This record gives sequence, C-alpha cells and structure tokens, in this order.
Amino acid sequence: MCQNHGVAYISPGVVEVQQIEYPKLALGDRKCEHGVILQIVSTNICGSDQHMVRGRTTAPAGLVLGHEITGLVIEAGRDVEFIKEGDLVSVPFNIACGRCRNCKAGQTGICLNVNPGRAGAAYGYVDMGGWVGGQAEYVMVPYADFNLLKFPDKDQAMAKIRDLTLLSDIFPTGYHGAVMAGVGPGSIVYVAGAGPVGLACAVSCHLLGAAVVIVGDMIPERLEQARSFGCETIDLRNETPLADQIAQIVGVPEVDSAVDCVGFEAKGHGAGADVEQPANVLNAAMTITRAGGSIGIPGLYVTGDPGAKEKAAQEGSLSIRIGLGWAKSHSFFTGQTPVMKYHRQLMNAILYDKVQIAKAVNVEVISLDKAPQGYQDFDKGAAKKFVIDPHGLIPN
Ligand SMILES: NC(=O)c1ccc[n+]([C@@H]2O[C@H](COP(=O)([O-])OP(=O)(O)OC[C@H]3O[C@@H](n4cnc5c(N)ncnc54)[C@H](O)[C@@H]3O)[C@@H](O)[C@H]2O)c1
Ligand SMILES: [Zn+2]
Ligand SMILES: [Zn+2]
Repeated sequence: MCQNHGVAYISPGVVEVQQIEYPKLALGDRKCEHGVILQIVSTNICGSDQHMVRGRTTAPAGLVLGHEITGLVIEAGRDVEFIKEGDLVSVPFNIACGRCRNCKAGQTGICLNVNPGRAGAAYGYVDMGGWVGGQAEYVMVPYADFNLLKFPDKDQAMAKIRDLTLLSDIFPTGYHGAVMAGVGPGSIVYVAGAGPVGLACAVSCHLLGAAVVIVGDMIPERLEQARSFGCETIDLRNETPLADQIAQIVGVPEVDSAVDCVGFEAKGHGAGADVEQPANVLNAAMTITRAGGSIGIPGLYVTGDPGAKEKAAQEGSLSIRIGLGWAKSHSFFTGQTPVMKYHRQLMNAILYDKVQIAKAVNVEVISLDKAPQGYQDFDKGAAKKFVIDPHGLIPN
C-alpha cells in the first residue's frame, strides 16, 4: 500500500517508470489538512508533456510527470469537508487555492498562491510550482474541496471512464479554445492541429453548434480521425495556401473563428511542413480569420525554449505579424485553461450521451509500465490519446 511508482522525465526522449515516494498530506513541513491522497484510476499523456520530454523546456531530470488525473479518494485531511473517502473524482490540471483574487474570479489557471515563481500551477510540470505529477499510482491533491469534481455515481462513471478521464484537461481545453474564439451556432471554424487537443476542440465546436469545422494538420492518420466525426480537413503538406484550401471548402478564403491547438512547436506548410516555424499557426490564424473575429490560443507558448533554432525564440520571442491582427481588430485569448469553468457541464454532456469524446480522440488504455512506449508512439504522431491505467481498474 505504501509503495508508489511514477513516470519520470530522464533526458530528451527518455522517460522511465520509477519507484517514487508515496505521497504525504504535507506542504513542506506543514500538514496539508485541506488535501487528499488519491489512488489514481486513470492518468493521460498530454502533448504538453511532450514539450518537456522532447527537451524543449527547462524541465529537470527526475521530474515526475502527469497532470491529467482521475482517482479515488483514499485519505482526506482534517479540513476537507465535502469530499469523502471513496469518492471518484476528476482533478483539474490547474492547482488552485480558491482563495486568491484570480480564483475568486474563476481564473483558476492563474492562481496566485500555488507557485512561488509565477501565477498558475499544475502537477508534474516545469515552472508550475514543483508539484509531484500524477502519472503514478498515488498522488496528493491540495485544496481538495475547491479543486475536485466528484462524479455523481461511481459505477456509472467507471462505465464511461474513457470519456470522463478527458475532463482533467483536453476536453475543457478544446472547449475553452472554441468558446474564446467565439464559436456558436452556425460558426465556420478553423482548428489548427489534429492532436488530442485539436480533436477535442473540433468536438466542442460541434457541441457549440458550429456549421463547419475545418481541421488542419500534416499527419494523415490524425486528419482521418477528424473526418471520422464529421470535420472537414486540410492537409498542410499540400502546397496550396491555407486560405485557398479554406475557400475550396466554404467558398471564401476566411473563417469566423480560429483555434490554435498546436503551440510553439508548430511546423510550416507545403515544403515547410516538416520544418519548425513557431509563429506559423498564429500568423496563419490572423490571415484566415475574418475582420472582427476571435482567435483562441490553447496551444502552448513558453518563456524559455532551449531547443529553439533562433536566439529570439529561445526566450519565447516569435515573429508574429501583429500588424495584420491589429488591422483586422482580432481578439486573442491565451493561457492555461481554467478547467473548473467547464468540467461539470462537460461531465454532464458525457453522462447524458451528448458527446462521444473518447471515440473522437481515439483513447487507448495502457498499463503504467507501457507509459514509455506510449510517449514514443505519441511523439511519432499516433492518432491516439494514451490513458494510463496504473491499477488495472478500467473495465474493457
Ligand atoms: N492551454 C492549455 O491549458 C493547454 C492544455 C493542454 C494542452 N495544451 C497545448 O495544446 C497543444 C496541443 O496539444 P496536443 O496534446 O494535441 O499536442 P500534439 O503535439 O499531439 O498535437 C499538435 C498537432 O499539431 C500539428 N501541427 C504542427 N504544426 C502545425 C501547423 N502549422 N498547423 C496545423 N497543425 C500543425 C502536429 O502535427 C500535431 O498533430 C500543445 O501545445 C499543448 O501543450 C494547452
Ligand atoms: Zn494536458
Ligand atoms: Zn488562488
């Protein structure tokens, strides 16, 4: 019972399952009475983890990864009042105190009290407060009453755990990107990226009533996955400019809304589809979004990228054509998703069969010891979302 294993980042391209410390209800020397210990039921590998594992951040060796956590409460601190032992809960990847001005305003992605270095924290992530990650068997979650979303019925939830596991990050993140881009009934939307976040965003656009959802990527299997639930797709290996490819689908070379589900490791178009161009998606979004439209940017941009080719990009400075966006009066929305703003509504959409998110992102469940292989396959562009099942609790 007091053993724990987790996925640790070792060096670029290498992660390892290691024996790690069993979590304590403690914050440094102090007892963490507002926290709980979870036995982890499911914990997903994310594109955000890949930035670290590819050596594109300053993540230290030994960092225990994992911020997409769902689990059973097995121990609760004295001050946890409303979450009980035995509850099955979704953990937002943001760690939030519930007490600062940002948390009070619902901006839980930039809590002011959980990371001494900057606003906002997450489990198992570089620069995000040093919290131990949850690609493990057990993890500690602070401010449990505030952070956790309890599933109303455990048996019902376990039957849909492949969908519900996506509430800790990518479903709210895709949805947030769409909401921030102003997607609503009848919208025509371009989603850059057909990774799990892009696909979750495309599903969210449909849920919000979009008329046409166009997904762009350069990996054919991922585009195929987007077509499987009714999206139009654009293969960016094609030399035809993006705006012209959009015109071939909707008759005009622009869209109402665009969502960047790629981030700073973006590649180019056509002959450049294999070459990194970190500002490509942001510039493309400004080119194709109608004047007055909004651009959601859940794709991650960093303040330090030791692996960037250009010196400016190593400090997160990119060649963004801001004059174009300014001339078109675009609105831009960046940052970590405040998961809590959306997770309850999206849970209900899952429980009442309004959405098939696991199918859309092609969830594949793997055991903890298969996590290193999952990282490799995901890095190669598998059209899958890998979900780790550390205790073998997920039904077939
Ligand atoms: N804001 C948040 O809170 C939040 C949460 C989760 C993930 N993210 C970020 O969202 C992004 C996507 O996550 P993911 O798990 O889907 O990652 P992923 O790496 O699996 O997917 C990115 C996809 O973008 C494609 N791509 C590359 N260049 C492109 C271009 N120019 N145009 C279109 N597509 C292009 C890649 O081929 C890949 O399929 C990452 O940057 C991740 O860090 C942010
Ligand atoms: Zn994530
Ligand atoms: Zn806070």
